[in-house]
Amino acid sequence: MSDKITIAIDGYSSCGKSTLARELAKILHYVFIDSGAMYRGVTLFALRSGCIANRELNRGKLISKLGSIELKFVLNPETKSPELLLNGENVEYAIRTPEISSFVSDVAAIKEVRTKLVAEQQLMGKNGGIVMDGRDIGSVVFPSAELKLFITAEIDTRVERRFQELIFRGTPTTKEEVRENLLRRDHIDSTRTESPLTQTDDAIVIDNTHLSKIEQLQLANKYVERAISALA
Ligand code: DC
Repeated sequence: MSDKITIAIDGYSSCGKSTLARELAKILHYVFIDSGAMYRGVTLFALRSGCIANRELNRGKLISKLGSIELKFVLNPETKSPELLLNGENVEYAIRTPEISSFVSDVAAIKEVRTKLVAEQQLMGKNGGIVMDGRDIGSVVFPSAELKLFITAEIDTRVERRFQELIFRGTPTTKEEVRENLLRRDHIDSTRTESPLTQTDDAIVIDNTHLSKIEQLQLANKYVERAISALA
């Protein structure tokens, strides 16, 4: 029997969920899936195919085109991280812009988009040995995950981290813009009707405001070891 578990990591935007999920997957030799990248991929498709025009999202038009969106992850041989392909094109960089961030929560609130992506995510995780991060992973995608982590950090810390990330990538922005986008996404993500961000009762909360990346990884790894030994 495989002792590979399913690990669900949820939390607000820019809490460091993906960083933790990626590093955990590396040390455990699990598959890592950043489910937010998939919502970003659909948003990029929406922008490119005229489903977002004059800063307005045309939900009906996007829903009618969902069948022509193919999302796949490929492993970057250098970074050993999965990167998103949208209809065969590597869009890992293109999905991380402030423009995508400003529309993604509206796209992610569409029921039909979620139904499609949740089904694909469940398929990716059907054999266990996966670390997936997002907003509804512990509540909807993998409700029976052996380990559920809910990551939080203070808003100032999240703004600073996201701002530094964008500046590092050469994307011009201000801390005010970053704060406004994070708060807006938090609000939409946690108040939408379709599987809003929720902390499930069986999730372990990690507040990483005062933790280094390595401290957070060590803490999470302790919970993994505990969850695996509980299987025996
Ligand atoms: O994790 P992220 O910031 O890249 O996610 C982008 C958006 O996608 C976020 O605003 C909420 C949405 N999302 C979601 O609704 N459900 C998920 N499982 C993952 C992301």
